[in-house]
Amino acid sequence: MKFPSEPFKIKVVEPIRRTTREERDRLLRAAGYNLFQVPAESVYVDLLTDSGTSAMSDDQWAGLMLGDESYAGSRNYYHLEETVRSIFGYKHVIPTHQGRMAENLLFSTVVKPGMCVPNNIHFDTTRANVEHQGAQALDVVIKEAYDPRCELPFKGNMDLIRLEEVIHREGASRIPLAMVTITNNSGGGQPVSMDNIRKTRALLNRFGIPLFFDACRFAENCFFIKEREPEFADKSILDIARELFSYGDGCTMSAKKDGLVNIGGFLSLNDDQWAQAITNMLILVEGFPTYGGLAGRDLETMARGLREVLDEDYLNFRVGQVRYLGELLDQAGVPILKPIGGHAVYLNAKEFLPHIEQAQFPAQSLVVALYREHGIRGVEIGTVMFGRRDPATGRTIHPELEMVRLAIPRRVYTNMQIAYVAESIVDLYRRRDMIHGLRLTYEAPVLRHFTARFEELERQPLLQRAAS
Ligand SMILES: Cc1ncc(COP(=O)(O)O)c(C=O)c1O
Repeated sequence: MKFPSEPFKIKVVEPIRRTTREERDRLLRAAGYNLFQVPAESVYVDLLTDSGTSAMSDDQWAGLMLGDESYAGSRNYYHLEETVRSIFGYKHVIPTHQGRMAENLLFSTVVKPGMCVPNNIHFDTTRANVEHQGAQALDVVIKEAYDPRCELPFKGNMDLIRLEEVIHREGASRIPLAMVTITNNSGGGQPVSMDNIRKTRALLNRFGIPLFFDACRFAENCFFIKEREPEFADKSILDIARELFSYGDGCTMSAKKDGLVNIGGFLSLNDDQWAQAITNMLILVEGFPTYGGLAGRDLETMARGLREVLDEDYLNFRVGQVRYLGELLDQAGVPILKPIGGHAVYLNAKEFLPHIEQAQFPAQSLVVALYREHGIRGVEIGTVMFGRRDPATGRTIHPELEMVRLAIPRRVYTNMQIAYVAESIVDLYRRRDMIHGLRLTYEAPVLRHFTARFEELERQPLLQRAAS
């Protein structure tokens, strides 16, 4: 296993506090066993998300001081515009405060009730923004994406046969655009190949359907293309990105991921009419088109971050650090989703805790145990997040995958801390039989995972469980 050496040194440090097991146990009870309700200051290694949690470089911090806070025509906007055009290649650059606002502006402009938008897998805010328009969000990723053991190099690919079926079934006039999410977050941070993107484009061209990218993790996707598609082995990440985006008509971007910033996003596209309508809406809900809900200094750090993220030494470290954690776990026999994705390692809770049935929230139980025993925060991606009630029977319909996502913030943790995470999980895996299931005591009508409350179930003896 290769130890991914850091291509940076540390200039500023942020202390983190160690807590005791008793303290964490108390905090968990107060939080109703929901890690979203635990104060971040009581977490030792926080792997809740890779979004907005990156460490900025000295160049980005220097850029903050060059913020031009003019209401209109800030120089930082022009820097961002030039940077985005030079990488993504689209004509219009519309800044937003984060990714979901880019989605909201795009879909509220071009999606009408009764329409449908295909995507490999919609991220939850993308799905919600499509559905909010009264349209259908369809996931058409290849079927292997749902098999946690299947090792394919590009498990985020579009299923082209199903995409064509969707177009025939729905009719091209009811599909205002198709999207491809790079990398595919909801499918485990898996990349999409250039070959698949070219073929997707060719298929959509036959029906005159525009293609947009959900580009949050575009640099990580391009790194995988370089690593895994021989045609690109000698190309720079910038050249790969330029070719990739040349097959699209636009993109939405949460720069909180591969923009290496704590807040920011944009929408970029070629169509003049769409851009005009979106800009009018932007002025209504975000701000003037040269700041779009952000300070000038935020635009500057985003412009700088977008260039830095293309650096191959950085990407080698970044993707390597995630892989390092995954391989440490895999070698110890801990069940994880394969292959290891670009931004996170996913624990397969169904296999980790086979003694906890899905109705007792195995992935949430694992998240709770990981925090209580070792002070590490992950996030449940399973029944709490995606379980739905069948309106006819009132019963919960469980999702296929029951995962704990360990998302790695960019440039934040040392490899020693990553090794600590691996050791802790291996320890927990050895003692997995002591982990209890949970019972839901409160749920909100929508997005219940943020505020749900639970209580712990008594441990059932193994023999009794086998008999029941
Ligand atoms: C693939 C994908 N799309 C869109 C978003 C939404 O971005 P934001 O959180 O900046 O609104 C996210 C955030 O995690 C994401 O992972």
